[in-house]
Amino acid sequence: MATRNTLSVTDNRTGQTYEIPIEDGAVRATELRQIRTDEEDFGLKSYDPGLLNTAPCSSKITFIDGDRGILEHRGYPIDQLAEHCSFLEVAHLLIRGELPDRAELDEWVHQIKVHTLIHENIKKLIDAFRYDAHPMGMLTSTVAALSTFYPDAKNIHAAQVRELQIYRLLGKMPTLAAFAYRHALGFPYIYPDNELGYTGNLLAMIFRMTEKKWKPVPALEQALDKIFILHADHEQNCSANAMRCVGSSHVDPFSATAAACAALYGPLHGGANEAALQMLREIGSKAGIPQFIKRVQAGESRLMGFGHRVYKSYDPRVKIIKGLADTVFEVTGRNELIDIALELERIALDDDYFISRRLYPNIDFYSGLIYQSMGFPVSMFPVLFAIPRTAGWLAQWQEGLLDPEQKIARPRQIYRGKRARDVTPIDKRQAPSSG
Ligand code: SDX
Repeated sequence: MATRNTLSVTDNRTGQTYEIPIEDGAVRATELRQIRTDEEDFGLKSYDPGLLNTAPCSSKITFIDGDRGILEHRGYPIDQLAEHCSFLEVAHLLIRGELPDRAELDEWVHQIKVHTLIHENIKKLIDAFRYDAHPMGMLTSTVAALSTFYPDAKNIHAAQVRELQIYRLLGKMPTLAAFAYRHALGFPYIYPDNELGYTGNLLAMIFRMTEKKWKPVPALEQALDKIFILHADHEQNCSANAMRCVGSSHVDPFSATAAACAALYGPLHGGANEAALQMLREIGSKAGIPQFIKRVQAGESRLMGFGHRVYKSYDPRVKIIKGLADTVFEVTGRNELIDIALELERIALDDDYFISRRLYPNIDFYSGLIYQSMGFPVSMFPVLFAIPRTAGWLAQWQEGLLDPEQKIARPRQIYRGKRARDVTPIDKRQAPSSG
């Protein structure tokens, strides 16, 4: 019998049967609306808190197979991109759809480099923050502020306008990040050095002091560039979803990127690299691991840097980042927390609590160790995630804007509250009885 790509659904409330088309392994949620008990009935909705099993979009940017630990950007496996490409090549691939040839890359890099400076007024905004302001809070605020300096960015339907904002954001994120760092330390701002590469310039704006010319250690510059590739995009993660959702209102890309930064800041998402390092510090030594694991198993603590909504096997980025950690440690000296991390991973991968929940280390488990060894303070870790992820956010944002199927995001809800109550005049209202 020819297989029909449909779902036959019988509504047992009415005995009615419905044929619902299956496309790309999914059914359209709007097809459920036809399943009604009577003319008055709104029809069925799908209910999916946390969007565990809901695709709000189709995409051609990143493919992940969480069970097989596969991650591809526009069809290229992440390990090949990390080995053969620079971060800006991968940013081009994500945003424009193909790896650039030499001439395209030179033009792409040039356009980004001419946008590394920020308006001088933004320095006053950064100066207004307290000395102990979290750099991710500063980055989120200053990215949003960029929308006030570039009102032309609102014209999102013009390809050239989008292109210019993409250059601006890719060029300015490292500068905003570095200025936030320098503000926290009370150091003078270091302006971009466009003779350096993308990550070399970031390192110079972060670490340069009175040197006339600051040159990055090549091994560290290269390692950071590869780490940026690993962080560039990850399909519909929380911050990419925020970028698409806010972008669907047709706001400018600076405001949408600020929303994505805010989502990434959370400890369950990009803030996990900061939380993971603090966790390793609290464990303190290998001897402290068993006690900590007990607390996790009791639900009193989470193993930060472990677990993933999609990867139910090894995160393919972890193997690569562990190799980069060794490269960095050859230059900076071994970070003693890595031994705790490796032992923690070894124990967790052999422990039923983690195995039964299919919890494996994710990229955040190791990235913080590298950043700490490079001399970054823990609070800068999510900022170092946001810089490269800006390429992925922009790719997702633009794809969403150009998708004819997309509309402004406006989800439904299941209402479980009270209905149709009369207002009691204030003098007659009684405080609700406690208990
Ligand atoms: C990133 O989405 C992406 O792609 C994100 C990202 C990207 O590149 O954009 O990969 C980057 O954000 C990686 C994730 C970084 N976050 C952390 O490392 C924080 C710690 N991990 C978690 O909080 C958790 O694993 C999540 C948030 C990553 C995933 O959460 P889910 O899919 O909602 O899973 P869950 O919270 O429902 O957990 C399922 C079970 C629960 O146990 P039970 O209630 O069933 O008994 O696993 C447990 C959880 O308690 N669990 C953990 C755990 N993660 C999940 N228990 C201990 N430690 C953990 N880390």
